Amino acid sequence: MTQLLHIQASPNPVSHSREVAEALIARYRMLNPTGDLRLADVWQLDLPEFGAEMIAAKFAVLRSQQATEGQRRHWARAVEHATAFNAADHYVINLPMWNLGLPYKLKHYMDVVTLPGENWSWSRDAGYRPLLGGKRAVLIYSSASAYGADGFSTQGHQDTQKAAMRTWLGFLGIEVLREIVVAPTSSDPSALTTLKQAAREEAESAAHALLSR
Ligand SMILES: Cc1cc2nc3c(=O)[nH]c(=O)nc-3n(C[C@H](O)[C@H](O)[C@H](O)COP(=O)(O)O)c2cc1C
Repeated sequence: MTQLLHIQASPNPVSHSREVAEALIARYRMLNPTGDLRLADVWQLDLPEFGAEMIAAKFAVLRSQQATEGQRRHWARAVEHATAFNAADHYVINLPMWNLGLPYKLKHYMDVVTLPGENWSWSRDAGYRPLLGGKRAVLIYSSASAYGADGFSTQGHQDTQKAAMRTWLGFLGIEVLREIVVAPTSSDPSALTTLKQAAREEAESAAHALLSR
């Protein structure tokens, strides 16, 4: 059974990017009624802190036999999130732009689930290897301003979130199938309605593309 994981990264109760993601998911459900749909709302998940304690647990568990019971339990909390993340075949990720980059809760989620041996590996000979090949993602971005294909706004501010998302997914071996942009959301209400309708249509088409092979 195909599993789709919806990673929801907006804290807004009424979210432009989430609304478009939900249009995709509604179409996906229609096309694939037996599919397994999961939600990871990064604002609701109980993510472990990835600080000194987690780093010590990581090295103790992965590099030595000396890990304490507490360290094993701590590391297992991160592995649990990574296992849930790895289980999906398809990913739909909706995210608002924050300060030209990622909302911090999404970055926290990414840091918790991106674990050596779980979804990437490293060896002296082969270097870094992605372990999630064959999986595909659709990204839905929302921002108040518009950023051009060169990544810059008309005021010269650089969008860093799209490059961050592509790089992260590429590192894990997940193909970015489509990117949908809901922007500029600071548009007047009528222009905003039009651009959101276009984004919803792109999202529905992306649902077909996700299931097409
Ligand atoms: C903390 C914060 C920082 C933001 N930074 C930016 C920014 O750098 N560039 C931008 O275009 N919009 C920025 N915005 C606006 C949001 O990206 C915009 O409102 C977006 O449409 C929200 O998407 P959502 O409705 O899916 O949450 C910011 C909003 C917040 C709350």
